[in-house]
Amino acid sequence: MIGVSCVIEKIHASQPLTHEEVTALLSTNDTAVWNTVYACADLFRKKYMGDAVHLRGLLEFSNYCIRECAYCGLRSHNINQVRYRMKPEEIIDQAIRINTYGIKTVVMQSGEDPFFTTEILCDIVREIKSKADTAITLSVGEKTFEEYAALRTAGADRYLLRHETASPELYNKLHPDSRFEDRIRCIENLFKTGFQVGIGSMVGLPGQDETDLAKDILLLQKYQPDMIGIGPFIANPETPLGNDKSGTIEMTLRMVALARIVCPKAHIPATTATGSIDPLGREKALRVGANVVMPNFTPQHYKIHYTIYPNKRCLDEEGSKCNGCIRAMIHSEGRTVSTDYGHAYRLTHNQNG
Ligand code: 5AD
Ligand code: FES
Repeated sequence: MIGVSCVIEKIHASQPLTHEEVTALLSTNDTAVWNTVYACADLFRKKYMGDAVHLRGLLEFSNYCIRECAYCGLRSHNINQVRYRMKPEEIIDQAIRINTYGIKTVVMQSGEDPFFTTEILCDIVREIKSKADTAITLSVGEKTFEEYAALRTAGADRYLLRHETASPELYNKLHPDSRFEDRIRCIENLFKTGFQVGIGSMVGLPGQDETDLAKDILLLQKYQPDMIGIGPFIANPETPLGNDKSGTIEMTLRMVALARIVCPKAHIPATTATGSIDPLGREKALRVGANVVMPNFTPQHYKIHYTIYPNKRCLDEEGSKCNGCIRAMIHSEGRTVSTDYGHAYRLTHNQNG
């Protein structure tokens, strides 16, 4: 049995953690232990990333998807899902609009929609880059090395591809049409093509235990991604996992804090899912390591149909309102709003001076 106090000592000394140590930590419900871990995560966030919170304007531009992820409401077998696809001009206009709110990153997210070929996506990226002073993050799923390279050459800066779970067995069970090795290969290709890369996972998936969650932390520690998205699994009645239990805010916060501890220089959002299971979820995440928030700028009539999971927060809010509300929340937490691009730490802090 590993002593949790030894693990805390290693955390304070910024030493790498082992799978056994993270499992032991995640298995304790000792509030004093967790308060120490949270304080340490908050300290690391402040030391490396500062008090400024980066805003990323989210555009969910298509909810068509050819995949069958068991947890996701956008899965192609969900025939009750109303589908939409924004026109390229609409996407470009919205990206420019996000920029006028002083937000310097547009996150273009969609299901895996074959309509948006790499060629079309490259055109959109080039258009946005020529018209707005903004970084572009893509979150459009698994593609070939050549496709990732083309998107990078077109000017996209960052790419989000969560690993979802670092347990290969659980991953393969939840993704009937994909393999864990393929996911990892895609993530490695994203690094090779020069993207700033974001990975991450869900917390509280059916069948996921502390040893699985510890694998997620070890994977983050190994890959040192530039961005890390962590949120609770939220059961969606329109999916095969509709009757399963959702993840908890407590375990989500533990994972966010440990992500900050093993990757002190990563950009870590207080995710929408975290804000959806607890009205103060995003605030709580900002207190234990998070330094990014993603206001949703998807036009209202589309946004209501991007139902990855139910009871998603801010669905009634228009983008500008979401933006104002998030800025107020950040200030009330004693933090500031960043005015720069919020690029990866390794690019903004040149080791050679
Ligand atoms: N609950 C929480 N998060 C989900 N995602 C997909 N479905 C769900 C769900 N039911 C997350 C996945 C995906 C991201 C866009 O949303 O991690 O990568
Ligand atoms: Fe398509 Fe997950 S099943 S976004």
